[in-house]
Amino acid sequence: MSEPQSTAAGNRILVLFAHPALEKSRLNHVLVRGIRDLPGVTVHDLYEEYPEQDIDVMREQALLLAHDVIVFQHPFFWYSTPAILKEWQDLVLQHGWAYGSGGTALHGKTMLNAITTGGREVAYSREGHNRFTIRELLAPIEQTARLCGMEYLAPFVVHGTLGMSPGEAARHAADWRRTVEALRDGRVDLERAAAVSRLNADLDAVVQD
Ligand SMILES: Cc1cc2nc3c(=O)[nH]c(=O)nc-3n(C[C@H](O)[C@H](O)[C@H](O)COP(=O)(O)O)c2cc1C
Repeated sequence: MSEPQSTAAGNRILVLFAHPALEKSRLNHVLVRGIRDLPGVTVHDLYEEYPEQDIDVMREQALLLAHDVIVFQHPFFWYSTPAILKEWQDLVLQHGWAYGSGGTALHGKTMLNAITTGGREVAYSREGHNRFTIRELLAPIEQTARLCGMEYLAPFVVHGTLGMSPGEAARHAADWRRTVEALRDGRVDLERAAAVSRLNADLDAVVQD
C-alpha cells in the first residue's frame, strides 16, 4: 500500500478494495490498476493486507481520518460486498467513534461504492431479473454512510462483466480513472452525483473537466 502524496487543494481518496480472488478478476484488476499511480489516492487492498481477515481497527481508523473521500471498490457478491468489507464495517465503524454519542470522526467526508456486476443493467429494475435497482440494493451502505455523517454519492457501476471484451473493460477503467481524478480535484458536481442512478451513466453531466 502506498500512502497518499499531498495534493495542495485536493481531496485525499481512500479506496478500500475487496476482491477475494484477484488473480481471476477480469474487471476489478483493470479498474484498480488504472488508479494505483494517481497522486493523492491510496489503494488499500483488504484481502492482501488481511489474508486472515484479522483487521487492525486502529490502523483502519487512522487511514479513514487521513482521507476525505472513502470508496468501497468491489465485485457485487450476493447483492452486497465481499465478506471482508462487511467484517471491516462491523469492526471499524465503532460506536462513539463513527456514530452515536461523540462519534463524529467521519463527519463531512464523502463516500461511494465502485462495483462490478455480472448482471446487466436491465436486470437491475423492478421488471428485471433482480427486481431491485442497484441503489435500492446498496441502501444499507448508503444509510451506514449517512449515520456516520458522510455524504453518499451514487455508485460507479460496471454492469454485465461476464464476457466483456478487454477493450470495453479498458474504456470503463478510463472512466473510473477520470472519476477518481475529478473527486480528488473537486471537479464533481456533488448534488448531481448524489442524485443519479450511477455516476458513469453520464459522466459528462457529473464531472467538470
Ligand atoms: C460469490 C459470488 C456472488 C455473486 N453475486 C452476484 C450478484 O449478486 N449480482 C451480480 O450481478 N453478479 C454477482 N456475481 C458476479 C460478479 O459480480 C462478477 O463476476 C464480478 O463483478 C466480475 O468482476 P471481476 O472480473 O473483477 O471478478 C457474483 C459472483 C460471485 C463469485
